[in-house]
Amino acid sequence: MDLLSIFHNIYGKSEKTILQFFSPGRINLIGEHIDYNGGYVLPGAINLGIYGVMSPRNDTKIYLKSMDFPNEVEVDLNKAIEYKIEDGWGNYAKGIIKYLLEDGYSLKGCNILIKGDLPNGAGLSSSAALEVLIGYMLLFLIQKPEEIDKKYLALLGQRVENKFIGVNSGIMDQFTVANAKKDHALLLNTQHLSSEYIPCYLNGYSLVIMNTNKRRELASSNYNQRRQECENALETIKKAKKAALNNLCECTLDDLKYIKNEVEYKRARHVITENQRVIKAANLLKNNDLKGFGELLVQSHNSLKHDYEVTGFELDTIVEEALKIPNCLGARMTGAGFGGCAIALVEENIVDSFIKSVSKNYHQKTKLTPEFYITTLEDGVRQI
Ligand code: GLA
Repeated sequence: MDLLSIFHNIYGKSEKTILQFFSPGRINLIGEHIDYNGGYVLPGAINLGIYGVMSPRNDTKIYLKSMDFPNEVEVDLNKAIEYKIEDGWGNYAKGIIKYLLEDGYSLKGCNILIKGDLPNGAGLSSSAALEVLIGYMLLFLIQKPEEIDKKYLALLGQRVENKFIGVNSGIMDQFTVANAKKDHALLLNTQHLSSEYIPCYLNGYSLVIMNTNKRRELASSNYNQRRQECENALETIKKAKKAALNNLCECTLDDLKYIKNEVEYKRARHVITENQRVIKAANLLKNNDLKGFGELLVQSHNSLKHDYEVTGFELDTIVEEALKIPNCLGARMTGAGFGGCAIALVEENIVDSFIKSVSKNYHQKTKLTPEFYITTLEDGVRQI
């Protein structure tokens, strides 16, 4: 049954308009673990995401149901909104409602039903997709679509993630989900939140997302540890140079000589070289040089493997197997790492055999069954 019919079954037929929306997941083409170091990232939205159906109500209640999770959430706009562990996914929505109210928006009551086709916890930003979806739907009821401030929406989602949920992530995911454009990657300056759309027509090639199906264990504590290591490296460079540097991406490779701690040295080297790779990658895409772009993907993965140490056996194996196939121009992990997904740029004609071979070889080595999704680059959150 389609989502709309299920919506009618749950909430009853409404004589009021029923509105439908889609909020995508994201992949990061290149620029990993850069968004909290003030540099450039190059993500895009994908064709998997979360669908939302909504109808307005005449009272101050917001009802939220998901077809993917059992918890139902009811929010009264006149009552205090608090995080409750048993509300599960609903906490993302509650956080959005709470902060929109705090920011002075006069929200309206509504019924909402959501359903996603994005694998959860696979590093494709299902939580950012959900935050941005709910924020967009609620603002849609009180603003004209063209008035909805997508930068605000992204910052709102990040605030929920950081302050309400308690995950210390950067701005890349929410910014992409809110602002992405079809057939384009988003070159985002994470210090100033300025961005540029980079045309990304993959003439004859496909972007294949490879899900290792390895759970991202300890992802959040490892993530916080990496953030801390970067802050320490920056402090060391600032002290040695007596310079007012804002972030690690303002440092040069020459500045690495000031760092004596080996771990911090490697983390900083990844950040500085990765930031340079993003700028190169954007230029290569502009010139349609997919081969050069693919080589940068491989360099990025190697840097994340050896210097940043966030890949692990499964991500390394799937990328290695992908790169063994002729006409795969490049592959790398995407997102936070420690499991989750990688991406590969593969000649369109061989995608089926690519998936078969990588799947078989990966399974042989890891005993895990991977999943593959062929994606195009899509628009950000929208009414459908
Ligand atoms: C996660 C975070 C992002 C970013 C990436 C790594 O996806 O949510 O903010 O830091 O990891 O690039």
